[in-house]
Amino acid sequence: MEAFLKPYEVKTNKILEIAGNFKKSLSLGLNGQGPLMMLPSYIGKPCGNERGTYIALDIGGTNIRAARITLDHKQIFYEAEVTTSFKNPELLIDYSTNRTTAEELYDYIAEIISTIIKKEEKYFLGFTFSFPVKQENILNATLIRWVKEIDVTGAVGEDPSKLLLDALLRKKLNIRPAAMINDTVGTFLHAAWIEKETDIASIVGTGHNTCYLQENHELTGKPMIVNMESANFNIGLPYTQIDKALDENSSFPGTAQLEKMVSGVYLGELVRRILLDLNDHGLRLKGKIFKKNINHPYSLEARDISEFLCDSKNITDFFSCTNSEAEMINNICQLIVKRSARLVAATYIGTVLHIDERLDKKHVIAIDGSVYEKMPYFREEVSSTIKEVLGEKSDHIKAVLVKGGSGAGAAIAAAIAVNSSFTVSR
Ligand code: BGC
Repeated sequence: MEAFLKPYEVKTNKILEIAGNFKKSLSLGLNGQGPLMMLPSYIGKPCGNERGTYIALDIGGTNIRAARITLDHKQIFYEAEVTTSFKNPELLIDYSTNRTTAEELYDYIAEIISTIIKKEEKYFLGFTFSFPVKQENILNATLIRWVKEIDVTGAVGEDPSKLLLDALLRKKLNIRPAAMINDTVGTFLHAAWIEKETDIASIVGTGHNTCYLQENHELTGKPMIVNMESANFNIGLPYTQIDKALDENSSFPGTAQLEKMVSGVYLGELVRRILLDLNDHGLRLKGKIFKKNINHPYSLEARDISEFLCDSKNITDFFSCTNSEAEMINNICQLIVKRSARLVAATYIGTVLHIDERLDKKHVIAIDGSVYEKMPYFREEVSSTIKEVLGEKSDHIKAVLVKGGSGAGAAIAAAIAVNSSFTVSR
């Protein structure tokens, strides 16, 4: 059993090696090479005095959210809000299926937005779109591909802001998209609005990604937040046969290698595959563990793993298994969660070292996402891994949970866009 699970352990020297590879990939990516996309956001740090009422739209991997948000005197007021799931039957987007067109998706979104506005008013909108896009300016971009097992037809190669604007016009809403940002950028803006030392932001939720502030960005010569699309990182990761099998059976094989090892869409699936593999290798469990059908891909979710780790009784209930089997399943869950946290921490170390090789300055890493927020042991593991690798110097690095950045961050981005020289169609 020990030998079977050994490949999932990530030792200190491996973390150091991955951090080094990640740091090199950052420099390579800025020159258009390597696995990191290094997408410009066309936004720097907020000044902290942004004001006004905006619509914030957030399309992530699990939910679609729209909110009417007022920024005033460093305070953020959520005046109206609506959240719906991507798996909503009205929308019928299911992992690995292809049942919704871009037009249907955006019409549905315009409908949701119409429920939170005051009809007589005109609004600018900040759009958090948490998928890889090639941005041309603060608003317009091209969707490179879908990720997180979501697939909507007629959207790749198109501009999400334009598709949204068309739907808003079809619905005759007096709302104009002003800025489009990645969710990591939203988390950055929200965090930096409050804590000036923020220079990195990350999401560890359904998907995974990190952005950071690049001083003297070559496009503008000024500081700019760069969306690394770090889900794509793939150099020297401790890739196992299970990771390979998961990838081969995913919607987009060969992409998002790091994400498939660390993020919420995949954590349950990794555990499920390990359990089935154990079964195939004759380590058949004595209880009725497989009575509960886990044969179906993605039938174990990150939420289940979180519950298993909170209380072993949840494992015995779920699988109808014995206590010793539950202990083994608990160990497997811990191992996969620990591996995820340590790999993510390695990328944070690589990013900090890119910004400040001698670790002279203070760094705040703002992190959001269901896995980081709710998965037992995750936050502690990220911080302790950073400490394990960097020793005393890790005191300069603060990893903090910053919730709701994709809403507040979108409003801040809209405020920046409306007040910048960039012209928003009015
Ligand atoms: C997407 C990123 C996003 C991250 C977190 C990844 O799958 O490619 O754009 O920031 O998920 O939501």
